Amino acid sequence: MKKTDILVTGGAGYIGSHTLVELHNSGYRPIIVDNLSNTSLENIKGAENIIKNKITFYEFDCTDEDQMNELFELENNIEAVIHFAAFKAVEESVREPKKYYDNNIGSLEVLLKIMKKYDVNNIIFSSSCTVYGSPDILPVSESAPFKKAESPYGETKQLCEKLIDEVDLNSISLRYFNPVGSHDTCLIGDCSADKPNNLVPIICEVAGGKRNTMQIFGNDYKTIDGTCVRDYIHVVDLAKAHLAALNHILDSKKIKTAYNIGVGKGVSVQEVIDFFEKINDLKISYKIGPRRAGDVEEIYSDNTKINNELNWFPVMSFESALKTAWIWEKNK
Ligand code: NAD
Ligand code: WQD
Repeated sequence: MKKTDILVTGGAGYIGSHTLVELHNSGYRPIIVDNLSNTSLENIKGAENIIKNKITFYEFDCTDEDQMNELFELENNIEAVIHFAAFKAVEESVREPKKYYDNNIGSLEVLLKIMKKYDVNNIIFSSSCTVYGSPDILPVSESAPFKKAESPYGETKQLCEKLIDEVDLNSISLRYFNPVGSHDTCLIGDCSADKPNNLVPIICEVAGGKRNTMQIFGNDYKTIDGTCVRDYIHVVDLAKAHLAALNHILDSKKIKTAYNIGVGKGVSVQEVIDFFEKINDLKISYKIGPRRAGDVEEIYSDNTKINNELNWFPVMSFESALKTAWIWEKNK
């Protein structure tokens, strides 16, 4: 039987590579476009090793309309696009906002234009819980308003969702909370070129000796132990949510919606470090430092909508996320 073709922009990246595996395992044919600006070919090889198959890969920048045109000419059976391609470093976006507007918004604009031209009508967009800013009600649900974004990166996610809302396409925006961990083979993971800014990769660098120590950014928040609270979602569960969204969008005549993807439970920074030490039997050197500018005190997901409408539930443990994150770091 002919497989359904799915274009995966940014498919060589952290979340994209995990999603390729789930797409293949469910009988789809993923096609990657990635300019390798923030990843490595090894991630594609890793995914190919896991699925024991080659994956079609186009290496170019998807803000390039001519090359996108050529791709859609060659691959004329694409049924849906999962759009991961974007820059994601929050701090860098504050220093270089234009880089983020150009790439994150520019790539989506080109994609929407080409999809319309080639009559491809289904898009799944990588959004983020950052669209909520600092929410008034916890857990935060999809009906919460977009508050002021904490960074230009956050602004790009808000604007992209709005752009998608305005076009006549079936669309699902997936608002990820904090993705962590790796596939259990540890053959794919986060290959970002720059020094990490996210908590779990930083803990792993301290564990591996790349950093001597780290800071907890503030312990005077109004949370269970004074440190910030987040919702850490295993990347394999997150990849499977894309599959659920894809099945749903392909089954729907008309759909325009957004889903949160988290675990639905808040975990403090202190708890993450303590748990990492316990399950990996390691000591992490850390100090309490000042608050980090722009940090939200506490945010975690209300998953009711995706549970009810897509029958998606997270099943992977936090233990597995922290173990695979550490193995990925050691193998790098
Ligand atoms: P990633 O950097 O690992 O993956 C993004 C991929 O897109 C990379 O492989 C990069 O080379 C590619 N890319 C970037 N711009 C491109 C362009 N113009 N043309 C072609 N390829 C391009 O990041 P990730 O963690 O896998 O994130 C994927 C998506 O999810 C991004 O849109 C990100 O903003 C979003 N997101 C990530 C997180 C997170 O914490 N990782 C949380 C919420 C949302
Ligand atoms: C988590 C917690 C820090 C590092 C970011 C983006 C968000 C989404 C996910 C893309 C915070 C604390 C961290 C350190 C620390 N990405 N921390 N010491 O900020 O929740 O979310 O990534 O869409 O948009 O903003 O994630 O991993 O940076 O931080 O104490 O060295 O860990 O203060 O409370 P964040 P994070």
